[in-house]
Amino acid sequence: MSEKFLDKVIVDSPGRINIIGEHTDYNLGYVLPAAIDKRIRFTLERNDTDSRCEIRSKGYEKALFVDLKHIAPSTTQWENYILGVLYEIGKRTNKLKGFQCSIESDLPVGSGVSSSAALECGLAFGLNKLFDLGLSKHEIVVLSRDAEHNFVGTKCGIMDQFASVMSKKDHVIFLDCKSMEYTHVPFNINPYKLVLLNSNVSHNLAGSEYNTRRKECEEGVAILHTKYPSVASLRDATLEMIETCKTDMSPEVLDRFTFVVEENDRVLAAVEALGKDDLKTLGNLMYQTHEGLHYLYEVSCPELDFLVDYTKNLKEVLGARLMGGGFGGCTINLIHEDAAEVFIKEVSIAYEKKFKLKLTSFEGHSSAGTTLL
Ligand code: GLA
Repeated sequence: MSEKFLDKVIVDSPGRINIIGEHTDYNLGYVLPAAIDKRIRFTLERNDTDSRCEIRSKGYEKALFVDLKHIAPSTTQWENYILGVLYEIGKRTNKLKGFQCSIESDLPVGSGVSSSAALECGLAFGLNKLFDLGLSKHEIVVLSRDAEHNFVGTKCGIMDQFASVMSKKDHVIFLDCKSMEYTHVPFNINPYKLVLLNSNVSHNLAGSEYNTRRKECEEGVAILHTKYPSVASLRDATLEMIETCKTDMSPEVLDRFTFVVEENDRVLAAVEALGKDDLKTLGNLMYQTHEGLHYLYEVSCPELDFLVDYTKNLKEVLGARLMGGGFGGCTINLIHEDAAEVFIKEVSIAYEKKFKLKLTSFEGHSSAGTTLL
């Protein structure tokens, strides 16, 4: 046994919230996410075999057995996050060996707080430590994103994995997804707080429509590029350029483009507002994002619209919007701390009455990224 290797590591890998900047990451724009204090915990141990791995997740009776020499996608979706990470690590290094892994989580699945990125990044981070693989944090982020593309099939952007690994307590990450430059912006919203309302719906459109949006954007950018060769992604486009392509694109694609260009501007405005402690402006921007996601990007659903609309006449709520890819999951609400308890109680009753569904809630505290315990 090499001295260099640890025998056992325990890693906490958090979910994330996103203050603003939705569907901008794969369009190489700006995002403003943060890790939260809900996480997946991995306990990883070397088992001194060359390639045999056993992964157990609390709540799932069946263990996943993997031979590192023969990794192929599974028909069980959660297994693909694991398999994808092992496969992507194998493409980058041959130092990975057999291990035992047990997983437990307090992250709600399918609620838009990216339990998937937490799963991918936590496993990659832990194995990197256990076997001294020499992967940088940036490589862990990228390989986790690649795992999701190649094994899970969601053509996601980089935001979730980046936030899960790179976050800093009491800060949000202002990330430029084109240059990958980032800054940790102090996040002090006292006496307000972030409340997440989990609609507990996850419409099965989520995966397919997500990929469709991405494809629509890429095809539209190709058209823009023929007219404006300097435009390589939506990040380089302006509303004026888009206006001149009106006859070349479908109204849907024009709407998607308008949303993304405006959303990038909103992220910049949000960072400025945070710098001035101007939470009212931040809240207004969040409402505008929701409108755009509903009317232009068309990724909302009745449950999320209801939850956002409910807040509009409450002066204690400065802003609310759907968070993440859409079609279900959570809304994020910027609310005065004194009003949070009553708000949650009342909106839960109204939601349950309307949709015959339970609403669950939790607070979003910006926290550190993936951590070795
Ligand atoms: C999902 C994806 C992210 C991002 C958001 C929407 O969470 O994983 O990459 O595109 O949707 O902003």
